Amino acid sequence: MCHPEKLAEYERITGEDLKESDPLKWGGFIAAAKADHAVRNPSGTRILKELCEASERPESETATKASFVISLRGLPRTNAVTGVAPLETEAGEGVPEAALADLFRPSAKQRQFLETIAKQRFVLYGGAMGGGKSYILRWWLVAYLIDLGMQGIRGAQAGLFCEDYPALEDRQISKIEREFPPELGRLRRGSSREFVLRPEWGGGRIAFRNLDDPSKYQSAEFAAIAVDELTKNSRPTFDFLRTRLRWPGVAMPRFAAATNPGGRGHGWVKALWVDRKFPKELKPLAREFAFVPARAEDNPHLTESYYEELKTLPPELAKAYAEGRWDIFAGQFFDVFDPARHVVRAEEIRLESWWPRWISIDWGFAHNSAVYWHADSGETLYTYRELVANRLTPRELAFRIAERCEGEKIDAIYLSHDAFARRTEEKTAALQMADVLRERKLPEPAPADTDRKGGWMLMYQMLREGKWMIADSCPGLVATIPVLVRDDQDIEDVAKMDGDDPADAARYGLKGRFGRVRKPLEERVAERVTSEDPTLRALQAQRALAEERQEGTLQRGAAGLLRGRRRVLPSQQR
Ligand SMILES: Nc1ncnc2c1ncn2[C@@H]1O[C@H](COP(=O)(O)OP(=O)(O)OP(=O)(O)O)[C@@H](O)[C@H]1O
Ligand SMILES: [Mg+2]
Repeated sequence: MCHPEKLAEYERITGEDLKESDPLKWGGFIAAAKADHAVRNPSGTRILKELCEASERPESETATKASFVISLRGLPRTNAVTGVAPLETEAGEGVPEAALADLFRPSAKQRQFLETIAKQRFVLYGGAMGGGKSYILRWWLVAYLIDLGMQGIRGAQAGLFCEDYPALEDRQISKIEREFPPELGRLRRGSSREFVLRPEWGGGRIAFRNLDDPSKYQSAEFAAIAVDELTKNSRPTFDFLRTRLRWPGVAMPRFAAATNPGGRGHGWVKALWVDRKFPKELKPLAREFAFVPARAEDNPHLTESYYEELKTLPPELAKAYAEGRWDIFAGQFFDVFDPARHVVRAEEIRLESWWPRWISIDWGFAHNSAVYWHADSGETLYTYRELVANRLTPRELAFRIAERCEGEKIDAIYLSHDAFARRTEEKTAALQMADVLRERKLPEPAPADTDRKGGWMLMYQMLREGKWMIADSCPGLVATIPVLVRDDQDIEDVAKMDGDDPADAARYGLKGRFGRVRKPLEERVAERVTSEDPTLRALQAQRALAEERQEGTLQRGAAGLLRGRRRVLPSQQR
């Protein structure tokens, strides 16, 4: 029936004397359940007690208390709300349970997630696309907050995080608007962005927050945190969020995350949850980490055709996204790539007229041709335009490139090596392109550098140092960089895969033409003239000019430019 030591533990925690409170009233299995629950979850004893009491009342009374949220009969044996593990009498009967069953029905895999997060502190539900991960994350938070409310911890705050607000809106807020009925609570958009449960469900709040700069949550507290698409975040973000997990009366605030494999955080997420390789500082918490693998076919709400569609992705991606395989990205090459850091909105890049601009091309016919436009500010290299297309002849491709260069000065074009060898008519592809480009006053293509490893390394270093920014108008490149994996025969190289053309083209662009450029002398001098006073301005200008000369930086072209515009120098304004 019930272990005496569990009963004793229950009495110790609650201060309640079960013998005095007539244990027979509860029935032996309920006492066992209470005790068992008390041991597993000291702060969660109250809800079980209430449920047990409710189960003894007539149905009509129960219904008022539970309304649509808690129904006590005919529900699955696993308790999705309180997180109490399945309880059984010796006769194998299930105890009455609570669930949000009238509102949501977790699939078997989602229920596994709920059971796991009920017991462990850091749970990752991760794997295939469409496994139902985002869905269960939001419903888990509702259930969790109601549970806390019923334990007397009212108005607790949980956080539902995504990497940015558009993602939050798409993956969660818009869905919540449709799925959560007004009887459950109120969705607030605007600056507060939260869902507030009605007082009868405990008044808890789900705050929707982004992770562009986690430090802004410095003094915030959360009774539970859920992160959707954890691999889009870095390990320091996770570490920071852990520090925000605290709430008065909650002994063990929970952290749950949902994610697909891949993305910049793939490495650290896989290490902790999938491979269970914990760094020294996390070893004491290792037992609190649990992983629930997700597969697309786990979600009965997806159509067969969606799954079939996933399987038509390039093989590596299909394995990751349809089967939820984590090993595919085991050797993610550009683990430093972070869209939040390296991708900029195209309209935010102010291309200056003096920045050198050039183009790089990975030519293909059956496969894609990928073309990129680059500019170098001296500090940062910007890849600012993309053209990816297949089944274009060399001439057609050259035309398309030329029409996009209208009004721009392009000073080099780097073209993949095979275009110089392969002939689609009597001329090589490179020569056919050269004909068109020459006509349009563009440079003739030069063979791209074939040093793959050197090129990848350069790209890696520039990303790491934040010296290479990619415009969001280059979606092919932004999608390709994070999925490139190391070649397991040669770990310094990237394994070739279908769809890697954008990365090859970008590599030609960086490797072929990486070099520091400086602003023209006139600009450099003007920047150092800061005074309002004309005399001081003249002095500042003279000093700046002298120093630039002394540094030996006066270049012939720049000197000419300076002479030509002398009248605008401050010394001439007097
Ligand atoms: N238990 C459920 N009941 C009803 N619909 C569900 C349930 N679970 C998931 N769905 C629906 O299945 C679809 C996919 O679910 P969801 O978006 O949660 O998957 P996901 O694993 O987060 O996908 P992705 O990998 O693309 O982020 C959604 O339309 C969702 O509403
Ligand atoms: Mg999702």
